[in-house]
Amino acid sequence: MKRIQGLLIAGFVAAGVLSAGVAVAAQDPLAVVDARKTELKKAGGAMKAIGAFLKEGKGTVADVQAAAATIEGVSKAFPGWWPTGTAIGVGESEAKPGIWENMDDFKAKTMAFQAASADLVAAAATGDKAAIGGVLGKLGGTCKGCHETYRK
Ligand code: HEC
Repeated sequence: MKRIQGLLIAGFVAAGVLSAGVAVAAQDPLAVVDARKTELKKAGGAMKAIGAFLKEGKGTVADVQAAAATIEGVSKAFPGWWPTGTAIGVGESEAKPGIWENMDDFKAKTMAFQAASADLVAAAATGDKAAIGGVLGKLGGTCKGCHETYRK
């Protein structure tokens, strides 16, 4: 039940941010691309920081919790970053046109990312390395699963 609730909440969050996406569409496409790249880099950095904690003992559990919160924040804002007109060809965009041809699949992949991010926040709260490592692997799979299809 908890998982179903999580999915429902993720759905509502995605729906809420999609209406925000309309506002984003009115913005300069170049600015949208730059902004989402900056945010996605933060998620990448946070993933690396958690990996370094697990493998090399760098940082503290509090750092891991902050990094997990960063990733979750990115996952929640993510649905608002894909107005039409921001595919490859606009600035440095690496977003394949397939995103807009398969928006249902892109949204499903986004929801998997959101669910795994929420699970990471929960695992980070326990401070248990094995639990964090397990969810980090699952989360990494959701990044990769989308990049393979939709990122150049
Ligand atoms: C539902 C699809 C999807 C998911 C899930 C996703 N990404 Fe991405 N990501 C993209 C797309 C599309 C781009 C290309 C964006 C662009 O160039 O405008 C991208 C670009 C990036 C970039 C490159 C930013 C740059 O400077 O060019 C990083 C880093 C990144 N993602 C990290 C992540 C991480 C880490 C995760 C998981 C925690 C993740 N992404 C999950 C679709 C996704």
